Amino acid sequence: MKKKALIFGITGQDGSYLTEFLLKKNYIVHGVVRRSSSINTKRIDHLYEDFFKKNKRLYLHYGDITDGLSVKDIIYNVKPNEIYNLSAQSHVAVSFQIPEYTANVDALGTLRILDSIRSLKLEKKIKFYQAGTSEMYGDVLETPQTEKTPFNPRSPYAVSKVFAHLMGKNYREAYNIFVSNGILFNHESPRRGETFVTRKITLGLTKIKLGMQKKLVLGNLDAKRDWGHAKDYVEAQWLMLQQKKPDDFVIATGKTYTVKKFLEMVAKKLRMKIVWKGKGINTRGYYKGKIIIECNKKYFRPSEVNFLLGKPLKAKKILGWKPKTNISQLIDEMVTEDLKSLSE
Ligand code: NAP
Ligand code: GDD
Repeated sequence: MKKKALIFGITGQDGSYLTEFLLKKNYIVHGVVRRSSSINTKRIDHLYEDFFKKNKRLYLHYGDITDGLSVKDIIYNVKPNEIYNLSAQSHVAVSFQIPEYTANVDALGTLRILDSIRSLKLEKKIKFYQAGTSEMYGDVLETPQTEKTPFNPRSPYAVSKVFAHLMGKNYREAYNIFVSNGILFNHESPRRGETFVTRKITLGLTKIKLGMQKKLVLGNLDAKRDWGHAKDYVEAQWLMLQQKKPDDFVIATGKTYTVKKFLEMVAKKLRMKIVWKGKGINTRGYYKGKIIIECNKKYFRPSEVNFLLGKPLKAKKILGWKPKTNISQLIDEMVTEDLKSLSE
């Protein structure tokens, strides 16, 4: 019997890589797509199978994590072996603008899945993965951050994810449900949403290089992040559900860089020499004598997370996982793909 996986958030960056990964492992994959006025399946269109095809391996269902009825109904009908909850309002800055919605999706959404598993009495059948985040460490209380580092969240997004993490732990202890929480540090790819900083930079600098854009306006260039490749990180999500016992794992590269350094590496790849002037919000980046980088407080958060650095030792020991892609390979792939799509 083929294993069945159900992915909430299948249309997102991680959802698309995880679907590819599970199909290669011979799974039958079900995914939840939310209704929108325009088509939002771009990242998985290459995997789409005709609705009427026999022996299909990818099934899509309309649903929404804020709609408890659809969540329970889909779980009841699919009865998967594994559920991956990747759905989220995942933009930290946006979570300050729509905090109630963010909590509904990111915190209560997780509870809706957990309680559906419990009330449908599928505790023994389903293993559940919850997409937790390094943002939960917030204003970090220890460096590097491990599974034992206390959470100190700094945004409605991060607070909602702490709720989801603890609720997962509670359902594991109270009802014996197999719940594994990932604590994933930033992971990127050519499929990264265009308003996250890495993609904003690769796309923005590539457009400037091609003469399609004049300036790139950013926020906090001094923030440090531990950036990996999404393709590597979905493998860790799967590995967590292949264990005998549920547990929580930090997934990271163990290296951290400033946003400014990331930008410089992208510029180098594009053979653009940037000359910096000024500091903090007054930082300006010049290319061929013209200002191409500026900072604006619009892109700062009301409370910033300045530094993140993970230690993925437990994942290495128990899951046998380590990152395969370094930052330079990640940037190469992102810039190459942006150059290709912009030249088409
Ligand atoms: P993403 O690209 O923003 O994808 C989020 C997914 O959630 C999309 O499929 C989105 O659908 C879906 N979604 C949003 N609201 C929903 C709702 N109300 N009902 C059902 N689905 C909904 O995020 P990602 O980068 O792939 O990240 C995957 C998960 O890992 C997220 O939970 C994120 O918070 C977490 N995480 C990400 C990182 C990272 O660095 N990427 C690190 C740690 C944790 P649409 O396509 O329709 O918008
Ligand atoms: N988005 C954005 N846009 N961020 C900027 C900008 C800008 O113009 N300029 C500077 N930054 C800084 C942010 O202040 C932050 O410190 C850093 O760049 C990274 O920002 P994002 O790429 O938006 O990611 P994030 O770290 O806030 O959140 C991502 O990673 C988390 C894991 O740590 C998201 O994917 C979250 O969903 C995920 O949980």
